[in-house]
Amino acid sequence: MTNRDTVSTTEIEKILEAAVDAAYAGGRRAMGYYNNRVEVEIKSDGTPVTMADKGAEETILAIIRERFPQSHVVAEESGKSGDEKTGLKWIIDPIDGTKTFVAGVPMWGAMIGAELNGQPVAGVVYFPATDDMVAAGAGMGCYWNGRRSRVSNVADLSEAVVLTTDTARAMRRSKAYETIASQAKFARTWGDCFGHCLVATGRADVMLDPILNPWDCGPLITILEEAGGKFTTWKGQRTIWGGDGISVNANLHPKILEMIAASEK
Ligand code: IPD
Ligand code: CA
Ligand code: CA
Repeated sequence: MTNRDTVSTTEIEKILEAAVDAAYAGGRRAMGYYNNRVEVEIKSDGTPVTMADKGAEETILAIIRERFPQSHVVAEESGKSGDEKTGLKWIIDPIDGTKTFVAGVPMWGAMIGAELNGQPVAGVVYFPATDDMVAAGAGMGCYWNGRRSRVSNVADLSEAVVLTTDTARAMRRSKAYETIASQAKFARTWGDCFGHCLVATGRADVMLDPILNPWDCGPLITILEEAGGKFTTWKGQRTIWGGDGISVNANLHPKILEMIAASEK
């Protein structure tokens, strides 16, 4: 059964529209702090946060709550809120790539995913610094700046561009990353949501993320699948709740899973 069989397109359209509006508004708010000497605090988990992250999340939540007051939210900076019993859950990362944002590099984005009755139905990543929007609704396709977006057709790893967020993190699972990267056309660390969206827009072929919270990948199942690709855990599960993730075109997905499994046994 597909998501479309259980949920009306109109309902998904409304959810997607809210996600697009919220990501755009949150992203524009974050832009006010970008390359503007924003102060960086370190959270208890050792990761950085700024006024831009907090402000963007506040803006995103205000739009989501206004349009869907009954829904449940899991957001990076403010945690869980709303009614857990309602079927609609939002997963929000106001700035994915905070280190990139702080460095003044434009490859960061606002990520919003929505699940309805446990199924991913909408996903949006907005890159404010380049004004790029990647948005998808279940059964509706994936769009990059309003034009249909597709993953690549590369079927041979030797022709593939392989990405990760940073090699230090990937090196914690060094065998899998090194094996895959060493057989690729080339490898880069164009990471965070930018790397996953490069795969969804056909500009790269494999993105390996060894450590992921749900908000780091909330929109990615819908985006990758609607672009003809896959977002799964390193074990091949179709979930954002598994602690890691790969975005990959459909041709290479089985091979990448096989290589990860062989490297990690
Ligand atoms: C990071 C990104 C990255 C993942 C890291 C996260 P942040 O998010 O999602 O892809 O590998 O584990 O911390 O902290 O920049 O929102
Ligand atoms: Ca973040
Ligand atoms: Ca993140």
